[in-house]
Amino acid sequence: MKLTLKIWRQENPTATGAIHTYELDGVAKDMSFLEMLDLLNEQLVLTGEEPVAFDSDCREGICGMCSLMINGEAHGPEVTTTCQLHMRSFNDGDTITIEPWRAEPFPVLKDLVVDRSAFDRIIQAGGYISANTGSAPEANSVPAPRDKAMRAFNVATCIGCGACVAACPNGSASLFMGAKITHLGELPQGQPERWSRVVDMVGQHDHEGFGGCTNIGECASACPKEIPLDVISQLNKDLRTAMKNGL
Ligand code: SF4
Ligand code: FES
Repeated sequence: MKLTLKIWRQENPTATGAIHTYELDGVAKDMSFLEMLDLLNEQLVLTGEEPVAFDSDCREGICGMCSLMINGEAHGPEVTTTCQLHMRSFNDGDTITIEPWRAEPFPVLKDLVVDRSAFDRIIQAGGYISANTGSAPEANSVPAPRDKAMRAFNVATCIGCGACVAACPNGSASLFMGAKITHLGELPQGQPERWSRVVDMVGQHDHEGFGGCTNIGECASACPKEIPLDVISQLNKDLRTAMKNGL
């Protein structure tokens, strides 16, 4: 396949960025999107140009590092991560526009790489449980109802990629936070910090500059792990209970 790529290039966080256009030939349908960018970078290096900076790590859909707006959609046209998107989703002769995540709390570091440490600080604020150290406890000593365990497991699949934020017109991280709060709040081990967790995480979220949720639902549509929108209801319910209790 032959493609025209329009890519956001930005030297550093304070530089003014711009879209640059590249022609790329020899793209195989079975290549992943990131392998296609690798091919472009090989071409750029051979011609003495600076390769395009982009994030990736596992390339298996589990780490959440890859983060690109592709033709205006977070992670592109399929419900998957950018690294698991394949070029068979595109056609010969296509023009593809590639930009970094669009959200103020995720500032661009270089080209397509953004700083997502705001997510780390939200997790540090409350996305944890307290557990005594020592040997592993007997597994059946803290029973968890199956329906709650399954829901916790399903929402624990959130990989912290940030697509929900990039897709949201408000730049809200409510789906990400809702996934973490639901994951921990469904299990007995998550109960001791349940109410302080939601207050502290929401406080950090707002402090970082993420926007509020207005139930648009773009986040859930863009989420590669199909985290359901109702985790935001659970987040709001827990927040209301915490505030009623004076936290
Ligand atoms: S909720 Fe989905 S889109 Fe948001 S960070 Fe988690 S996996 Fe990514
Ligand atoms: S590189 Fe790890 S999820 Fe894409």
